[in-house]
Amino acid sequence: MMKYSTRRLCVWGGLLGIVYITFIYRHNILAYSALVYWKANWGELNTAASLLHHHKFDKTRFAEVRKDLKKFINIQEPVLCQANTKIGYKYYGIYFKEDVKIDEVKRGLLAKTFPPKKSRFSKCAIVGNGGILKNSSCGKEIDKSDFVFRMNMPRIQEFVNDAGRKTNLTSIACSAKTISDDGDPCGAYYSKEFLNSLKEYNGYLLWVPSSWTHASSMKSAFTFAELLQKNSNLQLVLSNAEYSHKFSEYWHINGKSISSGMTMVSIGLSFCEEIHLYGFWPFPVDTSGNSLPMHYSEDIPWTTYQWTHGFSTEFSLLTELHRQGVLKLHVENCDLNI
Ligand SMILES: *[C@@H]1O[C@H](CO)[C@@H](O)[C@H](O)[C@H]1NC(C)=O
Ligand SMILES: *[C@@H]1O[C@H](CO)[C@@H](O)[C@H](O)[C@H]1NC(C)=O
Repeated sequence: MMKYSTRRLCVWGGLLGIVYITFIYRHNILAYSALVYWKANWGELNTAASLLHHHKFDKTRFAEVRKDLKKFINIQEPVLCQANTKIGYKYYGIYFKEDVKIDEVKRGLLAKTFPPKKSRFSKCAIVGNGGILKNSSCGKEIDKSDFVFRMNMPRIQEFVNDAGRKTNLTSIACSAKTISDDGDPCGAYYSKEFLNSLKEYNGYLLWVPSSWTHASSMKSAFTFAELLQKNSNLQLVLSNAEYSHKFSEYWHINGKSISSGMTMVSIGLSFCEEIHLYGFWPFPVDTSGNSLPMHYSEDIPWTTYQWTHGFSTEFSLLTELHRQGVLKLHVENCDLNI
């Protein structure tokens, strides 16, 4: 009897140990292999894939969502430009601990208006950086849109076939990638290579205050705006953290800061008549089970996947909006549709 319960204790203890180690591994180290990740999310992936198969735009539902959202968020604007930013306005970072006061000079560095015309863009493409775009041949379809949103300044020329060349509003944020040798989180933006790469873009750049933009570097948006004025025809607008915060509250994306992709969707909901999403697919395999890189334009491993954003929550929301016909998520190759 004694022996039996000792053995049972060992088995349960062992199992608990495994569960504990798995938990720690998953939540603290975050270096889960793609295969384990895929298996853990297989159900979610399959549900998403079958949901996305059908689509019909529902303009009435879109108008309803837009109106409801506007009422909830109230007066806040998603994109700040001269026309909607008063001198003395406090521009906040995502944690609301840091801010910078807009004076006359700073205001003068922003684009005069956004959107450029009063009317909405009739067809928008929001292009995420997901590996699902690799070999998709979606470039032509994307370029047929009136207004193209892109995230985190991806390289354009090399990926025209899959991701298109049109750029109208491209987000930019200080990140691990943009840290310079002297530790400035936005330092890489002052390099020659970066200034050269600006030639690939048109229209507006959207400054997203990220968790890397600390109190002291909230001003970097404006240093950056000066740089743009000297070196390009691009215009800078600011992503409004107060708007993003209310937007996440509305959709119950709680406790996490929203990703640049979701920020773009929030802007698209205000300014577009029809929204198409490309490159949004947070899984390391496609709908047929073939493995995918994390980004279509960069070779970075899935182990660096940004768990800080609630990507899974965000993706569930996007599939739901797809189901309701508010936007369309494209996850298949585009050459199949022709
Ligand atoms: C979008 O950008 C393209 C160039 O990339 C430009 O030709 C087009 O006019 C822009 N559209 C709008 C609505 O600004
Ligand atoms: C894309 O196509 C290339 C060449 O055919 C192939 O080697 C690569 O595995 C493909 N990648 C993806 C993610 O489909």
